[in-house]
Amino acid sequence: MATAARIQPFDELLSDAIKNFEETFGKKPEVAACAPGRVNLIGEHIDYCDGFVLPMALPMVTIIVGRRNGTKDECNVKTLCPGADFPRKIQFTTDYLVRGLPRWANYVKGVIYNYGFPVTGFDAVIITNVPLGGGLSSSAALEVATMKFLELITNKKHEKESDKALICQKAEHTFAECPCGIMDQFISVMGKKNHALLIDCQSLTAEHIPFNASDLVVLICNSNVKHNLSESEYPTRRNQCTEALKLMGLSSYREVNSLHLEELEKSNADEVLKKRARHVIGEIERVKKATEALKKGNFEDFGRLMVESHKSLSSDFEVSCDELDKLVDIAMKCKGVLGSRMTGGGFGGCTVSLVKADEIDNVIKQIDAGYNGATFYVCKASDGARDIES
Ligand code: ADP
Ligand code: GAL
Repeated sequence: MATAARIQPFDELLSDAIKNFEETFGKKPEVAACAPGRVNLIGEHIDYCDGFVLPMALPMVTIIVGRRNGTKDECNVKTLCPGADFPRKIQFTTDYLVRGLPRWANYVKGVIYNYGFPVTGFDAVIITNVPLGGGLSSSAALEVATMKFLELITNKKHEKESDKALICQKAEHTFAECPCGIMDQFISVMGKKNHALLIDCQSLTAEHIPFNASDLVVLICNSNVKHNLSESEYPTRRNQCTEALKLMGLSSYREVNSLHLEELEKSNADEVLKKRARHVIGEIERVKKATEALKKGNFEDFGRLMVESHKSLSSDFEVSCDELDKLVDIAMKCKGVLGSRMTGGGFGGCTVSLVKADEIDNVIKQIDAGYNGATFYVCKASDGARDIES
């Protein structure tokens, strides 16, 4: 019978990393830091459109343990992650950081490059229980864990949380060459137990929204598919959103009112651009309503908005796929499911559903019966990046 996947417990993960560090480098690590993956509850594909998004941090984290090695700039970094490309142990110097292979190291190098303070040589071991490439932001978790680790190694830090997130985003843009928005890095830095994070992606400010109903859980279903389209379509969507905004004669989606969209709809503009704008404008409103619903503890409304969000992502923004649509369809037929939608970039990856805790086993069983090969995670909102005390 299908059950939720076992998430390797934090203490076990940490002790595996420490043990491996000792075996690899012959000394005990002196510092340790971690950062979580995330799931977005609502507000999809609008972080790069000045919108609002509402993600929460996951209990799954990336941990980095290590110590300064006494050299000026030589770093030895090893990942224990079975999904990472080879080689999994690399050496580089902090005064010559270039992107290249293995790909996983670009996230680490990118954060060092953009850190803003000199970084001396160090040895480190990385471990994670965030699934890689599943749309739960293992990449942001790695960047933000690197940022926290560097704070400990250098004894220097950026005071503003938003600056930390922006440095990690820059690392992803320049070293991983992914033109992502700001959501993943923000939530990984600022997540808080039992809270979702409302991020205003225009002002780059954020508010913790209590999210702790004891009778509800968040169910993540990993479709375990990732279609090739995901990488090429992301920048295409970004460009289409910018194009549609220009057609409305505006410089930010936050200036849009209902008349702007009406006029665009009536115009002879490209139908695809009309659809993209419709999604962005509708999704910004849905996040505002969902936040109000969450504040009032009105989870029925919250769930309905999740489903509306999915429909819009599927038909207007066209970033869903058969597998995600199917997972949402099945979930919504289950007793105890208040809402369900695709989450993250799309074209595969995960769905997120809001489920009554006492129905969760049945819901997993029914989704498993209707969809072959999903992995299930049952989560509560968790803390953001932090130092790990010894
Ligand atoms: P997501 O961020 O949704 O998990 P991406 O495809 O954007 O998916 O990023 C996944 C990539 O991030 C992996 O292929 C790998 O290169 C890198 N990565 C993430 N976590 C780790 C880790 N702990 N060790 C090594 N590489 C990692
Ligand atoms: C992610 C990206 C985020 C956000 C999301 C869609 O892959 O990293 O910044 O744009 O897609 O909401």
